[in-house]
Amino acid sequence: MTQKNDNIVWHPHLVTRQHREVANGHKGAVLWFTGLSGSGKSTLAGAVEHQLALMGVKTYLLDGDNIRHGLCGDLGFSESDRQENIRRIGEVAKLMVDAGLVVATAFISPYQADRQKVRDLFEQDQFFELHVATPIEICEQRDPKGLYQQAREGKITQFTGIDSPYETPENPELQIDGLNPVIDSVSQIVDLLVRKNIIQATY
Ligand code: ADX
Repeated sequence: MTQKNDNIVWHPHLVTRQHREVANGHKGAVLWFTGLSGSGKSTLAGAVEHQLALMGVKTYLLDGDNIRHGLCGDLGFSESDRQENIRRIGEVAKLMVDAGLVVATAFISPYQADRQKVRDLFEQDQFFELHVATPIEICEQRDPKGLYQQAREGKITQFTGIDSPYETPENPELQIDGLNPVIDSVSQIVDLLVRKNIIQATY
């Protein structure tokens, strides 16, 4: 990484998050989905985003598999690369919340300390950690990209759940049963956003 520059000051601008939230009719927030590969994070995040869009909420979805093609295309799956991956996503999500969006992120984010560092970037009730809890046996059965099989065969190393750890969230805002129908989990998440005053109920 390049050296940190101490001669930079934060420049406050005239148009603030609060202005944008008023214009949008809802607050900005992060829905941070975490869970094993194949647990259903991306599917759920996409379904939630779709429901929110139907409700007129301005959203953006940051998805691990996509972001690793561009912004994080230089990173692999060592502990330090994953740490940097999550750090960048946290910073991008922060900008997007400042833009007044409800941001859904779908990253394995296996390390508790990295998730905590992202949480610390946000205010109370701006960051919601959603643990998509799907047993690894089910993820492995699903194996949508054939990666578990490759990991078992030793063709991929440092694979989460096989030879790289997943630290289960201790106090997530929601624990989602990955075997529940997606529509039920979507309702659970939308209800959370309503309860926390991020969006207004429109149903
Ligand atoms: S994270 O650990 O840094 O949060 P991220 O969510 O960005 O991971 O990327 C995970 C995706 O990359 C998986 O869904 C899978 O498709 C792919 N992948 C490729 N190699 C690995 C690996 N060694 N461990 C986990 N996922 C991998």
